[in-house]
Amino acid sequence: MPWFDTKMSRRRFLKLAGSGIGVAVVGGTVWRAFSNGVFSSEQGPAYEPWKDWKTESQQGAGPLSLVASAILAANAHNTQPWLFVVNPNRIDLFADTKRNIGSIDPYLREMYEGLGCALENLVLAAEAKGYSYNLKLMPNPTSKTHVATISLITHTKSNNGRIGDTTTTYSPVSEALSSYNAIPHRHTNRGPYDKNRPVTQDILQSLGSLNQTIGPGVVLLLWFTTDEQRRKVGDLILHATQAIVTDKKQSYDDFKWYRPNWQDIQTYKDGLTVDTSGTPWYIDVLAKILPPISEEAFDSSQLQLAKDTYIATATAFGIIAVRDVFDNIQRLQGGMFYQRMHLWATSNGIAMQPMNQMTERADR
Ligand SMILES: Cc1cc2nc3c(=O)[nH]c(=O)nc-3n(C[C@H](O)[C@H](O)[C@H](O)COP(=O)(O)O)c2cc1C
Repeated sequence: MPWFDTKMSRRRFLKLAGSGIGVAVVGGTVWRAFSNGVFSSEQGPAYEPWKDWKTESQQGAGPLSLVASAILAANAHNTQPWLFVVNPNRIDLFADTKRNIGSIDPYLREMYEGLGCALENLVLAAEAKGYSYNLKLMPNPTSKTHVATISLITHTKSNNGRIGDTTTTYSPVSEALSSYNAIPHRHTNRGPYDKNRPVTQDILQSLGSLNQTIGPGVVLLLWFTTDEQRRKVGDLILHATQAIVTDKKQSYDDFKWYRPNWQDIQTYKDGLTVDTSGTPWYIDVLAKILPPISEEAFDSSQLQLAKDTYIATATAFGIIAVRDVFDNIQRLQGGMFYQRMHLWATSNGIAMQPMNQMTERADR
C-alpha cells in the first residue's frame, strides 16, 4: 500500500526587487540577506508543491494528481496534519495528530477543519479531472484518525457523488472548475484589505450559497457587515488575541510554528513565515536580515497586526457555524465549505483570512 506523506509548505506571491534591496544592505548583512532568503522569497524545495500542481493539473490524471491539489489547502498554522494512502481506485485520508498545535487547538477542532479544506481541494480536482467518486467522511467508527475514504468510481464527466448516499446536484461545472483553477492562487491574506473596493451584498450571498456544495442545512454562514456589527466582532477577536499572547502556554505553542528564516522554511517546510505575515515588504526584509525576533516581539506584532491591519480594514466578518463543533464530520464539512468559499473568493478577486482566535480561547 503506497504511502504519500506530504510534509510540504507554503508561500505567498511576494516578489522582492533584489537589486533595490541590495543597495540598502552592506557587508556581512548582504550574506545574511542571501542566507535568509531576502532575494529568494517563495523559492526552494518548500515551494515545490506549487510547481508540482501545475504539472499535475496539465498532465496528471491518476489519484496522486488529486493529492497534489489537496496539499495546497488552508490548514491551521500551516501544520499540514495530513497523511494520504493512495491506491489506484481509492484515496484514504488520515489525520497526523503528531502535528497538532497543542493548547491553541486542544480538541483538534482546527485540525479537522484543515483536513476538510484538503478534502475540498481533492474532490474539486477529482471533478475537474472527470472522476465520479464516493466520499465517505469518518468511515471507520473505531478510528478517530481515519478521516475520509474517496472511492474513485469511473473516469467520466457525469454523476459527482459527494457525501455517502447524499449525492448533491448543485456545483455547476463552471464554478467548480474555476475554483479548481484557483487552487494554487489561493493564499491567506494578512495584508490590509482595499477599503476602496467594498464587498457587495451580492458577493456575500454568493459566498453563503456555496454551502449547498456541502449539503443542505449542514453549515451556516453568518455575516457581520454594519459598522456596529464589525466593531463588536472586531473587539471580540482583539480581546481573544490579547488573551492568547498573555497566556504563556498558548503564546509558546503559537510561536513554535513561526519560521523566521529561510533555512527553517526549507528544512521544516511548514509553519508561518515572514513573507506571509502581512507586514509591509520593508519590514519583511528587515525581519530576514536582523536576528530572529523574540516570542514577546512576535506576540506584540500579532496583536498590532490584528488591530491595525486585519480588523481595521476588513469589510465583513463571517462565522461558519455547524450544529455540533465536537462532531468530526461537521468539522470536516465546515472546513470544506471554508475552502470552497476561499477558492471562489480568489477567482473573484476577493481576499480572505481565517481568524480563529475566539474559538482558540473558547477551547482553551
Ligand atoms: C482551521 C483554520 C484556522 C486558521 N486560523 C487562522 C488564524 O487564526 N489566523 C490566521 O492568520 N490564519 C489562520 N489560518 C490560515 C492558515 O494559517 C493558513 O491556511 C496556512 O498558513 C497555509 O497558508 P495558505 O492558506 O496561504 O495556503 C487558519 C486556517 C485554518 C484551516
